[in-house]
Amino acid sequence: MTKKTNSEEFSLPQKISLKQKHLLGLEYLSKEEILLILDTAKPFKTIFTRSIKKVPTLRGRSVVLLFYEPSTRTRTSFELAAKRLSADTVNIAVQLSSVQKGESLIDTAKTLESMKSDFIVIRHSYSGAPHILAQNVSSSIINAGDGFHEHPTQGLLDIFTIREKKGKVEGLKVVIVGDILHSRVARSNLWGLTKLSARVVLCGPPTLIPKDIDKIFPQVEIEHDLDKALRNADVVNILRVQFERQLEHFFPSVREYSLLYGMTKQRLKNAKSDVLVLHPGPMNRGIEITTDVADSLNSVINEQVTNGIAVRMAVLYLLSLVNTNQ
Ligand code: CP
Repeated sequence: MTKKTNSEEFSLPQKISLKQKHLLGLEYLSKEEILLILDTAKPFKTIFTRSIKKVPTLRGRSVVLLFYEPSTRTRTSFELAAKRLSADTVNIAVQLSSVQKGESLIDTAKTLESMKSDFIVIRHSYSGAPHILAQNVSSSIINAGDGFHEHPTQGLLDIFTIREKKGKVEGLKVVIVGDILHSRVARSNLWGLTKLSARVVLCGPPTLIPKDIDKIFPQVEIEHDLDKALRNADVVNILRVQFERQLEHFFPSVREYSLLYGMTKQRLKNAKSDVLVLHPGPMNRGIEITTDVADSLNSVINEQVTNGIAVRMAVLYLLSLVNTNQ
């Protein structure tokens, strides 16, 4: 493959723009807005093959990363995305910040706003924390994961990866397996995939499937038997067992969970031979996924991480256009 140089033309879709200057969840985006982000991420991904992986698109803008929960992928990916767009980035180490002296979330955000931060990327254990910031500060707020609610850029990068590999999303059978109850990744996938007309099947023990999920997503199927759920599957998205969020016992033992819901090579044979294996990470190898599945030819787990940067570049770029227009 020939590498592009930085002097080559960099073309981006010039169609519609996003309606809101915040990205709080895929629930609030239309199908057209989701497709706009996915289409915009494609040319941004081509930058990765260049010798200088940087464009001046967001020069002079600032992006603050405010993570109240641990993260490897999302935080690094947002920082790289912002840097590749030439924005200035600041990482707030919450453990070393005035949060430890009792400063409230809103006061922290107002302080960052006063420093003229264009974007605040927030991860918080409370569902709705990004919404509170969006109501109280003028910076663009991007949800990097709020409690059990949503993780919109993870949903977008999952769907980008599916679309890139399969050429479409509509009509694909996508099985989401594991701890749906505690998963913001599952919720963002559900909003995004159903808006793009995928056939979504949720699979997990009854205790880890939210009770009223069918009321919000009546078109989604629920199957507790993983072997049955996998039949004819085009994509399987395997969720992490979130031990840190489970305040009670949702299954008798890790061993039993693994036996019933762990993804093994043998079990994967129920799906189509070219099934895509996704996992948002971090993985509990040997619990929800075996190493031979995680590292198999069907696995696109590492590509998800790469695509995450392109998708986040697209999000920052498109939100910056909304800011400019307001
Ligand atoms: N997928 C994901 O959100 O990973 P991190 O917790 O490492 O950001």
